[in-house]
Amino acid sequence: WTKLAGNTALALKNKNLSIELKADKSWVTNADTKVNQLLVELIKSEFPTHQIMSEELNPDIHSVDYSLPLWTIDPIDGTTNFALGHNYSAISIAFSNNLKVLVGAVYNFLTDEFFHATQHNGAFLNGNIIKPSNNSDLKRSVVLMGQNWKKDPIELYFKQFQNIVSRVGEYRRLGAGAVDICYVACGRADMFFECLNPWDMAAAGLIAKEAGCSISHYNTHVDYDFLPSDLNPYCYLVSNQVLHKSFLNLLTSDTLPSDF
Ligand code: IPD
Ligand code: CA
Ligand code: CA
Repeated sequence: WTKLAGNTALALKNKNLSIELKADKSWVTNADTKVNQLLVELIKSEFPTHQIMSEELNPDIHSVDYSLPLWTIDPIDGTTNFALGHNYSAISIAFSNNLKVLVGAVYNFLTDEFFHATQHNGAFLNGNIIKPSNNSDLKRSVVLMGQNWKKDPIELYFKQFQNIVSRVGEYRRLGAGAVDICYVACGRADMFFECLNPWDMAAAGLIAKEAGCSISHYNTHVDYDFLPSDLNPYCYLVSNQVLHKSFLNLLTSDTLPSDF
């Protein structure tokens, strides 16, 4: 499914890509809509009773029952990258049931990198098992971050940003949360944080968990508390196990740590 979806996106990219701005300033292309429609059709033809939550067709997080079979889809994560010709975007699909994500796939169709995981079976990149880094040195750590204008409480975010950048080695804002999380899962970076939507992290979250990452929430928000933890995107921190406590402290402390 993800390969088919990737080919659909690439065909439009090479032919006639149209770009629009959504109300929240995020970009959407005709490829996002087309891929979303295709994935919904594929799921409906095989699993007609299953629910589907997807960024472009049904983004209402209150409209589904998380205890029943559910597909959570981001047709293209990293739309701005895709529209600008950067090679850092992916199709993200997760299947959950009974409050748990059981299958997750994140496919960067521009680099042909397929990340996937099934519950209790490990995580893989193009068929090879993946693990997070074991770096224990904060000063040498590489952090991926995002920033969502609608979700990140902005003043708090600037404090958190200051705490992080003043203590870690390097940081990047690459523009596709699902891919960022997979990069942490396979050791290409030590940490990722952002306040997301469920379709950004549902699949990648399982991949990170199965790879052996640690996951926390560094802010909470009553509007998201009803979500099962596997699908709760709010202020989401994924990192290797060794540095997790240090990263969480930096994101939750109000002041710079005393040894700064
Ligand atoms: C966005 C990307 C971006 C993140 C935003 C997401 P989209 O998804 O993952 O990196 O910062 O919060 O909404 O709009 O490209 O699917
Ligand atoms: Ca997304
Ligand atoms: Ca998207």
